[in-house]
Amino acid sequence: MVVAHVRLRDFRSYPALELDLEPGLVLVTGPNGAGKTNLLEAVHVGAQGFSPRTRAEAQLVRFDADAGRVALAGSEGGSRVETEVTIVRGEGKRLRLNGAALASAEELRARLTALVFVPDRLAVVKGGPLVRRAYVDRMLGRLEPVQASLPGEYGRALAQRNEALRRVRAGLSSRDAVEPWTERVVELGAFLDRARAGLVAALAPGFADRAAQLGLEEAELRYEEEPPTREALDARLERDLRRGTTSVGPHLRDVAIAAGPRELRSFGSQGEQRTAVLALVLAEADLQAERRGSPPLLLLDDVLSELDAARRGALAASLPAGAQTIVTATSREAFPADGPEPALVVEVRPGEARRA
Ligand SMILES: Nc1ncnc2c1ncn2[C@@H]1O[C@H](COP(=O)(O)OP(=O)(O)O)[C@@H](O)[C@H]1O
Ligand SMILES: [Mg+2]
Repeated sequence: MVVAHVRLRDFRSYPALELDLEPGLVLVTGPNGAGKTNLLEAVHVGAQGFSPRTRAEAQLVRFDADAGRVALAGSEGGSRVETEVTIVRGEGKRLRLNGAALASAEELRARLTALVFVPDRLAVVKGGPLVRRAYVDRMLGRLEPVQASLPGEYGRALAQRNEALRRVRAGLSSRDAVEPWTERVVELGAFLDRARAGLVAALAPGFADRAAQLGLEEAELRYEEEPPTREALDARLERDLRRGTTSVGPHLRDVAIAAGPRELRSFGSQGEQRTAVLALVLAEADLQAERRGSPPLLLLDDVLSELDAARRGALAASLPAGAQTIVTATSREAFPADGPEPALVVEVRPGEARRA
């Protein structure tokens, strides 16, 4: 998506804001606490229907206000789009696309594309396997929309099987009751495992290229296909019954993010971990642009900190051409002078943002 206009009402630190943006590189500057991340978050809420920072959506409503709103006007793949997301304290949110009410944020995500880097995303490299699996499954939803429901379907089959295991353990039902769910876990687990392996294989070359551009050599993204089999589940049935959980399947797999022989989770510096997450975001943006024919909106919060001057320069130079990219930084100077000229600099002060 390309955002031309942002309108906020009682969203985070903004009582009321009207701001015109430009396609291309938009640099959002201001001192700590001014509201840069809030603005980026607002654009993400408007484009995707949810916050990249929190699930507690009432936090998005400005202190003392009852409801907060983000409205965006812009375009997606050449067509005009207008979105409106209203969050009412205690009631949840309402979404509109081109005037029509949407039932869920997924509908917005299916239509509009935006990718975000926030410092919390470092957890994709630093955190446990759960974070990486969840991230890969969300990428799957974005890059292979027809597969978007697969992780959820697998998760539900798994939960049903675990429930059946516990009922058997409690003497409430016979082992036969587990059988149909074992079947589903094998079937959906194989689909999900293959889909993840396919996605990782499609992303891996771009990830390596993007990481190399940012100064991280031999970067690798790996996921070996290892579908759960009937035999493997049957062989573990006794153990699964004792524990009441399923001990094989894609819900236990990890995605390796490495540089040469080093797993970056344990052996990467903070800067390398940041570079890897950025490379992942940029590789996904490249793949989306290729598959959808138009690049996603890129929202990069605080990406420049912790990168040395050479890496900041490399990042600036490698921002996807033709995409709108909104980058936050404490000052104009944080952005390399020899990098691309921003199409627009926005200056943020508490409660306000204006074109410089
Ligand atoms: N719901 C809210 N209502 C009013 N102010 C908020 C709300 N949530 C956060 N803030 C304020 O926003 C400021 C932080 O803004 P942020 O965008 O994170 O700053 P930065 O420019 O450093 O990225 C804090 O001063 C905080 O008090
Ligand atoms: Mg911030």
